Amino acid sequence: MEKLAIAIDGPAGAGKSTISKLVANRINLNYIDTGAMYRAITYKVINNGIEFDDKVEIIKLLNSTSIDFNHNHIYLDGKNVDKEIRENKISKNVSYIAKIKEVREKMVEIQRKIASNKSVIMDGRDIGTHVLPKADFKFYINASVEERGRRRYEELKEKNFDTTLEKIIEEIKNRDRIDSTREISPLRKSEDAFEIDTTNLTIDQVVDKIIKTIEKRRE
Ligand code: DC
Repeated sequence: MEKLAIAIDGPAGAGKSTISKLVANRINLNYIDTGAMYRAITYKVINNGIEFDDKVEIIKLLNSTSIDFNHNHIYLDGKNVDKEIRENKISKNVSYIAKIKEVREKMVEIQRKIASNKSVIMDGRDIGTHVLPKADFKFYINASVEERGRRRYEELKEKNFDTTLEKIIEEIKNRDRIDSTREISPLRKSEDAFEIDTTNLTIDQVVDKIIKTIEKRRE
């Protein structure tokens, strides 16, 4: 099979990562979760007690940081941080770190390098517009903010987090606002992306839609 690049973009909680993982398994691609990379550096910033607006210290930290994937697991300076980066304090603050130019440049460089030598399905906010503008397929996955909040709330409730649906919806709105209004590669749908609204669809329906679109064009 020839090398394939699939870009999946969309706002927080639209289902990008669940869907991308399933598509990756079905058609044998490497799944790259770029949000996990921004989360990993945010985790390190917090652990080092650095303020989110202290760009000088953040850039210094970035220069002595390694971020890597191995079999879908994320490694920060050689340590697996899959669990730590999903904590709510990371979700709430990651957008402040992800808008820093130098942070984005380093992450994009790693992402392009990964995609240069294997078939990938990569999810994020700027994959179709900036990281892989020549991707073979681009999808923009969306859902209403209420539905995205509800999904995230269910997820957190299962982990026994003490929060409310209203609070989660507010956090998601805030994240969407920062992600889509930032100066450098903001969240937006690439003109040539297929848009899928998942508000009233099951995960399997979305996965089928994506696979059908890919198969149709490759016949
Ligand atoms: O997909 P996620 O929720 O794990 O992403 C976490 C944050 O990282 C998100 O709020 C915005 C940022 N992000 C980004 O700016 N660019 C990407 N390609 C992926 C994520």
